[in-house]
Amino acid sequence: MSITLALSKGRIFEETTPLLKAAGIAAAEDPETSRKLIIGTNRPDVNIVIVRATDVPTYVQYGAADIGVAGKDVLMEHGGEGLYQPLDLRIGVCKLMVAVPAGFDYAAAVGRGARLKVATKYLDTARKHFAQKGVHVDLIKLYGSMELAPLTGLADAIVDLVSTGNTLRANNLVAVEEIAPISARLIVNRAAMKLKRDGIQALVDAFSKAVPGRA
Ligand code: PRP
Repeated sequence: MSITLALSKGRIFEETTPLLKAAGIAAAEDPETSRKLIIGTNRPDVNIVIVRATDVPTYVQYGAADIGVAGKDVLMEHGGEGLYQPLDLRIGVCKLMVAVPAGFDYAAAVGRGARLKVATKYLDTARKHFAQKGVHVDLIKLYGSMELAPLTGLADAIVDLVSTGNTLRANNLVAVEEIAPISARLIVNRAAMKLKRDGIQALVDAFSKAVPGRA
């Protein structure tokens, strides 16, 4: 029975490649140079589909792919319906944070019950976070470059991923609240986990052994 793995181009593909190698799998083509969306591997029973990072959970949820690699940020926003998340791959490690312009007193604004405009691509996750904290927000959906929003007056704050903090610093923003620690997870379609158990479990085990920093 063949297994289809959903990956996104860029960092996820690059950082998953060594894990695949540890499982004896090598992609036949590089998605950075190939325009192909279905890529074969050295194993006739394993194929890779290249999809947008935010689409990986959807492909796996509906069984168009059996397994995939997706950031916790993407999974939180998706909701995780129909998915097993058996393994933290410890790649793509960063944090989902609230950030504001340097000099903006976030705690004081929250303390006096101010209504804040917050720009993000993580609408559901942000809505839940601020509701839980009792912070009043108007959320503004963006698709990228969130850091620009406070600089142009579009928003008072942003919710975005922070890794090195270089992007925040370069734009005179500071992180004021952590929403969640983020890393990439292996995700598995629930039906495939039963129907293709042997093949998928072998992959999960091989990935698990190769996870960076594994004790
Ligand atoms: C992410 C994120 C920040 C940046 C943070 O963007 O949205 O902009 O990285 O990294 P840093 O703290 O190391 O500067 P990415 O480059 O992944 O592009 P994206 O906006 O398409 O998500």
